[in-house]
Amino acid sequence: MLPRRLRRLVLAGLILAFAGRSDGVLEPAGPGSTGTSPAQRLELPGLENVHDLGHGLFCGGEPRGDAGFAALEAMGVRTLLSVDGMAPDLGRARVHGMRYVHVPIGYDGVGTNALRRLAKAVSTLPGPFYIHCHHGRHRGPAAAAAVARALHRWTAPQASAWLLLAGTDPRYAGLHRDATNAPPIPPDEIARIADPLPERTPVEPLVRAMVAVDHEFEALRRQRGNAFGPSSGAAAASAMATRLSELFREAARLDGSGPAGAELRHGLTEAAEEASRLAAQLGAAHDPSDTEKTFKKLTESCVRCHRSHRDPPATP
Ligand code: HEC
Repeated sequence: MLPRRLRRLVLAGLILAFAGRSDGVLEPAGPGSTGTSPAQRLELPGLENVHDLGHGLFCGGEPRGDAGFAALEAMGVRTLLSVDGMAPDLGRARVHGMRYVHVPIGYDGVGTNALRRLAKAVSTLPGPFYIHCHHGRHRGPAAAAAVARALHRWTAPQASAWLLLAGTDPRYAGLHRDATNAPPIPPDEIARIADPLPERTPVEPLVRAMVAVDHEFEALRRQRGNAFGPSSGAAAASAMATRLSELFREAARLDGSGPAGAELRHGLTEAAEEASRLAAQLGAAHDPSDTEKTFKKLTESCVRCHRSHRDPPATP
């Protein structure tokens, strides 16, 4: 294990080498600027889709393990802003000398309240800042653009160019809308924002359930390559599909009234059945093309339900 100071130097060297930047400074984005995104991509251990947006703002995916947090520490990051539903890893952040502010947002938009909190955090807590969601592609980039619009005079075309570079799906119309339309927030208004900046924010039971579903689904997807054939890994994949099915069934038991609630429950029950089918297929001698078909159907059930119940923009 390298001494901490040396590790920092090595990592800092890595960052510069990968970033291929000579100046290390970005021009502030003025109101007259065009739609060129001022972001620079960085390749770092334990982090995906990391970009330097200038102004002491970085954006990317969830830091994974010690490597991810160490890379952020080496970049000098002091404050982590998570907009993901998953509870942040406060312990690891502290070990690496950073604190969290947890402002979970949905795929329907950044929203005014979340933007106020993020803007206050960036204005009052020590930077640099790392804004992250799960993979650093949709919610994190939208939140970062909204902050850059609110505090750093990014133009709407710059925000759009950045979302294009980050790969934010145009289908998330609410995220695009809020990232490009975020109004500038002047310092006196920031000073009046009294919202707390908690390190961890409780999320709705459905969001918690979905974070667990997502976790299990990712593990299953990793198994797909080597275990969806008649190999020994199929038993492990079958257990994952069973857990996934249970998570969907638990989610279907959550409260939710009205026609939307009933439709959601129906979709969750269908997804549970699809996951059970996959578990049964993987647990027996099976034709790989059957498991592949069921896996695809399961994936489609996520997408279909999100399109009707999760992603459409909320009213501003
Ligand atoms: C029948 C509906 C339905 C199905 C099926 C479904 N989801 Fe969801 N999911 C939702 C809803 C609704 C939300 C938004 C919850 C909220 O923000 O209140 C959501 C949110 C999420 C989130 C965001 C959590 C966060 O951080 O805010 C993830 C990730 C997710 N789902 C993954 C999945 C995956 C992976 C699958 C399939 C294996 C899946 N979902 C299947 C309805 C569904």
